[in-house]
Amino acid sequence: LRHLLTTEGLPAAMIRRILDTAEQFVSVNEREVKKLPLLRGKSIFNVFFENSTRTRTTFEIAAKRLSADVINLNIGASSTAKGESLLDTVYNLQAMDADMFVVRHAQSGAPHLIAKHVKPGVAVINAGDGRHAHPTQGLLDVYTIRHYKKDFSGLSVAIVGDVLHSRVARSQIHALKTLGVPDLRVIGPRTLIPADVERLGVTVHHDLATGLKGCDVVIALRLQSERMNGALLPSAGEFFKAYGLTAERLALAKPDAIVMHPGPMNRGVEIDSHVADGRQSVILPQVTFGIAVRMAVMSILAGSAAGALTDGPAA
Ligand code: CP
Repeated sequence: LRHLLTTEGLPAAMIRRILDTAEQFVSVNEREVKKLPLLRGKSIFNVFFENSTRTRTTFEIAAKRLSADVINLNIGASSTAKGESLLDTVYNLQAMDADMFVVRHAQSGAPHLIAKHVKPGVAVINAGDGRHAHPTQGLLDVYTIRHYKKDFSGLSVAIVGDVLHSRVARSQIHALKTLGVPDLRVIGPRTLIPADVERLGVTVHHDLATGLKGCDVVIALRLQSERMNGALLPSAGEFFKAYGLTAERLALAKPDAIVMHPGPMNRGVEIDSHVADGRQSVILPQVTFGIAVRMAVMSILAGSAAGALTDGPAA
């Protein structure tokens, strides 16, 4: 694995290797071993052209736990504001001996462009590009599902909300299909479900009650208003009325169903607080697992997880 740009086409064996490596990091963290030397001497550059709370911070924590040096580029205070191009920014950071770039950008494909132009040996991780992909989020979500449900075969998973603008949903769908989830549903209004999504092997529901029936996993998604060009369709109130995840609606899923959300949440829009904070919610464990999954991805890309933590061959 040279770069991690998408979960589309990522082989099942590689996904399992990332999950298994992350599991070992979780158990290392539980033993309160805070630092491992796997990325000692490496420089990781976090380059976020869009806001982030979870992804940027957990990448930083993950890199520090692997003993890497972490540089967070402050885009607002960078020379991007003076007209410097994306690639010139990257070339200049590369001249500062970057080993890995973690990139978030509003334009779909920006991390792919960077990956095409970096020097051999420099890795690029997509931390979310436009509405295209957010592979480490997809991977931490499948990690969370495996943690609570053990096995993907026989699972019914429902993704509810703004699938159209969601890079997270796309990354989840590719990873879950590759791992063999037999019943994958997307639920939302016609305006927020991509017209061709069924070709990815999902079933489409426009009625929330029908879609939630008997599910093992319910994933709520935020309305991505920043990608709607100013028109929030439907309105937040209309959306909650038809698709908001309330305790009453969640009762249609299996009694032991887990509730997930990639964050940031808009309470009272896609999810009610009773559900977000309720006994079935695993929303905060998702965030914690994100550290171990990002440690796994970075160490595998650096070629340093093999041998040190896994029995598998170097990718
Ligand atoms: N899930 C996610 O990408 O959250 P942030 O935007 O806070 O990174």
